[in-house]
Amino acid sequence: MTNIKSLLRENIKCLKPYSSARDEYTGSIGIFLDANENSFGSIPAGDLNRYPDPHQQEIKRKLSKIKNVNVENIFIGNGSDEAIDLFMRAFCEPGKESIMIMPPTYGMYKVAADINNVNVIEVPLTNTFQIATDYVINNITQSTKLIFICSPNNPSGNLLDRKSILKIVNNFNGLVVIDEAYIDFTAEESWISELKSFNNLVVLQTFSKAWGLANIRVGMAYANEIIISVLNKIKYPYNVNGVSQQIIIDALESESKKNEVVNRIIFQRDKLAEALSTLSIIEEVFSTDSNFILARVKDANNIYDYLLENKIIVRNRSNIINCKECLRFTVGREEENNKLLEILSKYGE
Ligand SMILES: Cc1ncc(COP(=O)(O)O)c(C=O)c1O
Repeated sequence: MTNIKSLLRENIKCLKPYSSARDEYTGSIGIFLDANENSFGSIPAGDLNRYPDPHQQEIKRKLSKIKNVNVENIFIGNGSDEAIDLFMRAFCEPGKESIMIMPPTYGMYKVAADINNVNVIEVPLTNTFQIATDYVINNITQSTKLIFICSPNNPSGNLLDRKSILKIVNNFNGLVVIDEAYIDFTAEESWISELKSFNNLVVLQTFSKAWGLANIRVGMAYANEIIISVLNKIKYPYNVNGVSQQIIIDALESESKKNEVVNRIIFQRDKLAEALSTLSIIEEVFSTDSNFILARVKDANNIYDYLLENKIIVRNRSNIINCKECLRFTVGREEENNKLLEILSKYGE
C-alpha cells in the first residue's frame, strides 16, 4: 500500500480550503442571500444567476452506478486537463520533483508539468508504441511522484500492454495515472476495476470523445478517496459550470445512444484504416483502438499542406519522437472520410 499522504506537497498537506457559500449551506429551499448572486435573475434568459453545485453530486451519483465506484472515488473537472494540472500542483514540489511520461504521448502532461516547474523524465515508447517497462522502472528516481500512461495512447492510437502497466503500478511508490480518454473505442476493460487493488492508481476519463461533449469541458478522475479529497480541496470552488453539469446529467440517461455512436465510429475507423492502407502515398497505418488513425506517409509536410489547400485539416505529428513522417487522422463521418480518401488518392497528380 502506498502512503498517499506522504506523497503530498507540504503546503497542500496543511492547506485550509476555501469554503464556498454552497459548502456552508447545502439545502435547496429558502431565500438565498448568502452568495452575493443577483437575486433578480440572469440578464439573458435561462436561470443562470445561482452558483452551481461545487461538488457535482448528481453527476457523481449517476457515474457511481454506471462505473461501479463510490462517489468518494470520483473527481469531476473542467475537462480531464484540469485533473492533470491538479495532480502536478498537489503532488510535485516545483523545481524539485518530477513526473515521468512516455512519448510520443498526449502533450498536456509535459505542458502542465512545465507550467508548474516540475521536472519531466521522458522514457519513450518502443518503436511499436509499447512501454519500455524495465527502462521505465530503472529511470524512476526518489523525486518521481507521478507516472502518466496514456492507454489507448494519443497519438499512436493503440492500447498499452496490461502486464507492463501492472508491473509499473507494482514497482512504483508514487501515483500511476492512466489516461483512458479513448477507452470507449476499445473492447478492453477499464483500469477502474483495479482501483480497489491499488491505492496508487488513478484513471482519467472524459466526456470529450465518445460522448461528443468536448465543447462543455467535463472530465473525470477516479481514484482512492484520499487522492480525490485532495483534488477537491485544491480545485476552484465552482470548477464545472451548471450548464455543463445539467447536460452531463441528461447525457448519462443516454448511454445506449453513446454506445451506438461509438460503434458507428469504430465501423468508419476500420473502413478508413483499410482504405488508407491501399494508397500508394501511405507507408504504414498503425493499428488503433481510438477514434483516430496514425499513418506514416511518404512526405508528411507536403501532404499536410496539400490537404490544407483542400480544406482538410489533419494533425501533423511528424516532428515528434517515433512519429517521423506521420499524420494523425481523426475518424470523420462517412462522407468526410470519403472526401479525405479521394483527395489523398489524387496527391501528386
Ligand atoms: C489522451 C488525452 N487525454 C486527455 C485529453 C483532454 O481531455 P479533456 O477534453 O477532458 O480535457 C485529450 C484530448 O485530446 C487526450 O487526447
